[in-house]
Amino acid sequence: MKERKIEIEYQFAQLEELSQEEQNLVKKAIAATQNSYANYSHFYVGASCLLEDGSIVIGANQENAAFPSGLCAERTAVFAAQANHPELSIKTIAIAARNANGFLKDPISPCGACRQVILEIEDRYKQPVRILLYGTEGIYCFRSIKDLLPFSFVDANMR
Ligand code: THU
Repeated sequence: MKERKIEIEYQFAQLEELSQEEQNLVKKAIAATQNSYANYSHFYVGASCLLEDGSIVIGANQENAAFPSGLCAERTAVFAAQANHPELSIKTIAIAARNANGFLKDPISPCGACRQVILEIEDRYKQPVRILLYGTEGIYCFRSIKDLLPFSFVDANMR
């Protein structure tokens, strides 16, 4: 048996180290937490998608008394972007979250279902989606969702 290893590279950045465009995107994700409807978890998540024309589409988690009917911030943002601008790829997605004590020190990372949805965007537009995870101590920057979803499943795996 052979041992194999996967290594993931990501950057840890302060807000001011990012480009102006990405700083703005992160700020939009932070602001989007205001649009969260999190009556049950009281956990407020915002996401922002930077489209290839430079425009930004935001999302926020939307909860429901029937729990599975709610949706994460990432998917509300991605689906809104796709529904309104199907011709534009998504270059980058930023995510921010806060609880009753404020924004989190360490970033949250998208859930499995959201990772799979973002992977579909990479597959659809044939380019990586950069992921920026905001925490008050710094921002984790990934070059592709594949770095958060190794051994992923896409359409080509069925051919
Ligand atoms: N949530 C998100 O919106 N994004 C994540 O990456 C993790 C979790 C939401 C779903 C639910 O409304 C609340 O956070 C608690 O799980």
